[in-house]
Amino acid sequence: KIYPVILAGGSGTRLWPLSRAALPKQLLPLCSQFSMLQETLLRLSEWTELMPPLITCGNEHRFLVAEQLRAIGVTPLGILLEPEGKNTAPSVAAAAHFLLKEDKEALMLVLPADHVIADVQAFHLTVQRAAQAARMGALATFGIVPSGPETGYGYIRRGEAVESADGCFAVEKFVEKPDSSTAKIFVADPAYSWNSGMFLFLASCYLEELHTFRPAIAESCRKAFNDAYRDLDFCRLDEVFFAECPSESIDYAVMENTAHAVVVPAEIGWNDVGSWSALSQILDRDTNGNVLRGDVYTDSVTNSMIRAEGRFVAVVGVEDLIVVETKDAVLVVHKDQVQKVKKIVDDLRIKG
Ligand code: GDD
Ligand code: MG
Repeated sequence: KIYPVILAGGSGTRLWPLSRAALPKQLLPLCSQFSMLQETLLRLSEWTELMPPLITCGNEHRFLVAEQLRAIGVTPLGILLEPEGKNTAPSVAAAAHFLLKEDKEALMLVLPADHVIADVQAFHLTVQRAAQAARMGALATFGIVPSGPETGYGYIRRGEAVESADGCFAVEKFVEKPDSSTAKIFVADPAYSWNSGMFLFLASCYLEELHTFRPAIAESCRKAFNDAYRDLDFCRLDEVFFAECPSESIDYAVMENTAHAVVVPAEIGWNDVGSWSALSQILDRDTNGNVLRGDVYTDSVTNSMIRAEGRFVAVVGVEDLIVVETKDAVLVVHKDQVQKVKKIVDDLRIKG
């Protein structure tokens, strides 16, 4: 049986100032009337082979998450709460423990809550392919054709085809977030794809690999889950044990190290909405190439995205610009420089 595990923690700082600690990207309605989390769940609603989803998120977002699920009529298997953010390796480990209590042979389909997938049917087919390999003990990844030497992604080099699993290839090499000269070498080699950040594996296999490569994470997550506080809606990991857990992503902790990874090429219209320019590319543009939201006035503006949440915004004579107005902050950034938005948030944090 396949259990979707939705990763709904994380702060989404690259979409500041709309995405905030209190209301991060995955809980915002960015591309439609539904939040990214709701879109992620709605995408799965017609797959009859799926079990109800398990959601993992920060303790502080529990009511918002529960309410967003209720609003679309999804009853989760559980909502697993992290007392603090420890990145994805611990989050997936806790989810694996949760599922193993239900089902010793649980397959977990790990899905970030903040991606766009345009071709749901192709996505479904790709997951079915990956499931053949995952049932046999593989850790399946989904490979995206790279569109440039981005440094914010994992890169996967495909090896031999897996004989018994149609459409699956052994992973020869997995490199998380390479530097830009390495990324350039990778994109020139057609055997490389981007890691989509979605995974499919047996819960038991993941925990075994984690235990091998990151025993400290495995151990603290096991204890934090055993001592978790449970009530009707939520399961909150034990604060003390979880505090001891090292913070690391699944990509560095497990995927770079495991010998059992496979990759399934996934042509599914994937976009991780990782920046303001990525978001503006997904949304419909007007005849000047602009995406305008809210109370906005423009004159001689092209290829820009202007977003006003509350106040009136007038923009004249610019191109390739992102302007985002919110109640307490305004962002103005050139489309070529959107990767630096994350740094604004880091700098602000340091200043306090
Ligand atoms: N529950 C929980 N707890 N979720 C988390 C946490 C956490 O502590 N930290 C991050 N997440 C969620 C994020 O909200 C996102 O949905 C997902 O986990 C992945 O985290 P990101 O922080 O967005 O990772 P990334 O984008 O830098 O890199 C990953 O995704 C890329 C594709 O988008 C990696 O898997 C890369 O290899 C991959 O290319
Ligand atoms: Mg991401």
